[in-house]
Amino acid sequence: MRAKSSGKGAVLGRGEKKRIEEQFARHINRGQVKYLKAGHLDVLETMRRGIRFTDEATGRTMIDCFTSAGCFNVGRGNPVVLAALEKALDSLDMGSWMLLSPWKAALARELVEVAPRGLDRVFFASGGGDAIDCAIKLARGATGRPTVISTVKAYHGHTGFALSANGKEHYRRYFEPLMPGFRFVPFNDSEAIASAVDEKTAAVIIEPIQGEAGIFAADDEYLRELRRLCDRHGALLIFDEVQTGFCRTGRFFACEHSRVVPDIMALAKSIGGGVYPNGAVLYRGLPVINRFLKKHHDFHTSYNGGSDIGCCVSLAVIRFMRETRLWEKAERSGARLYSALEDIRRENPAIIREVRGLGLMIGIEYIHEFMGPMMSDALAKNGVFAAYSGNAPQVMRFMPPLVASDEDIDEIIAATRAAVGAMKSILPIALPAARVPFLLNLLNNERVQTLLFNWLRSAEDLVERIPGLGGRNK
Ligand SMILES: Cc1ncc(COP(=O)(O)O)c(C=O)c1O
Repeated sequence: MRAKSSGKGAVLGRGEKKRIEEQFARHINRGQVKYLKAGHLDVLETMRRGIRFTDEATGRTMIDCFTSAGCFNVGRGNPVVLAALEKALDSLDMGSWMLLSPWKAALARELVEVAPRGLDRVFFASGGGDAIDCAIKLARGATGRPTVISTVKAYHGHTGFALSANGKEHYRRYFEPLMPGFRFVPFNDSEAIASAVDEKTAAVIIEPIQGEAGIFAADDEYLRELRRLCDRHGALLIFDEVQTGFCRTGRFFACEHSRVVPDIMALAKSIGGGVYPNGAVLYRGLPVINRFLKKHHDFHTSYNGGSDIGCCVSLAVIRFMRETRLWEKAERSGARLYSALEDIRRENPAIIREVRGLGLMIGIEYIHEFMGPMMSDALAKNGVFAAYSGNAPQVMRFMPPLVASDEDIDEIIAATRAAVGAMKSILPIALPAARVPFLLNLLNNERVQTLLFNWLRSAEDLVERIPGLGGRNK
């Protein structure tokens, strides 16, 4: 399916696009403009439909395999969701967070119906970080304990408690001192967690599949061990399903793979259908939680989270997922993509180390870090927007909208083959250079990459302007 015009956006000319780039650079982030241009990602999403977006100024259409890490599970501009939003806008506004709301009640009911059994209470949140903050506060408030155990390289967002739970120095370094009491253990390491959890532990927080860390799925037995440890020590188990939730991994929620039910589950991103922000925290009505909430039910509130319009949209999203059995589609398409990527890996051991993931949350790990940005650039030239992981540049994430058809998946596979082909042509230079530690450090350096790619891009643009040689890259 090609991207269709919504009929609402004005078609931009190249001059207008240039003006937008300049404004963006001047008032928002000049580095980002340069970086995107260097990687052939200087695209304006003026039209979005299904799994694609189009830059009407250049006519370039791309497949979205990034989806802001799982925000567009129902597709870009899903017509069912847009219709629900339009209908809500006719008669509703965000509503008062204090008053009873039929839309909040209906969404809470719908969430409980799709959630693992036992998670039958709901708080609303304005987004992922806010949901994580709410989850951690709930655990600390209910248990009265100080310690929160998170995992190395975990990513939970940029708000106060969430930031404190991020398992990479890079995110926390400039803001210390953050919340005290946070400890980090290696992911998927049962011994490490067993020696960390004790009577002071309020919560263990984990992504069932680490996303930003580079797509690492927790073993089922590891999750079962976390459940046992938390039960034994009276700690609460929090799953961050902000990225993995809402059918992404081939189940409605990733925790269904292991059948481990957490005490608290944080949700956001795709709950808003990519059109209206929302978030939720589901939790079990445990005595320790009920006692705390009896006194402090307003311990976490949000005007934006669970707004009436947001709830109408989220209801449409969940009903769409249930009606189309979207998790099954994610599982089937994921298997198709995974097996093709595995073939490409087997054929290209000098480029790809491993392919891993569940459903349509798939990561490709390259042999060297610098290959992540290079492949991102090569894929962009082949019409696919795919980003490497924030915490692991050598890992590229493929997280297309779950509504992708078999033909769409085959197009992603063909583009990946072409991109790997382009990478191969530079290996005779890159691989010998990568054997020299100093040169490898240079190649892996983001600034050096931007400089190099920008230089190549300028040369490319120059060639395009020379009559007889050029031909615009679409
Ligand atoms: C696993 C996970 N948790 C939390 C967050 C934070 O969500 P938000 O950006 O909505 O605050 C993200 C965002 O990428 C995420 O991937």
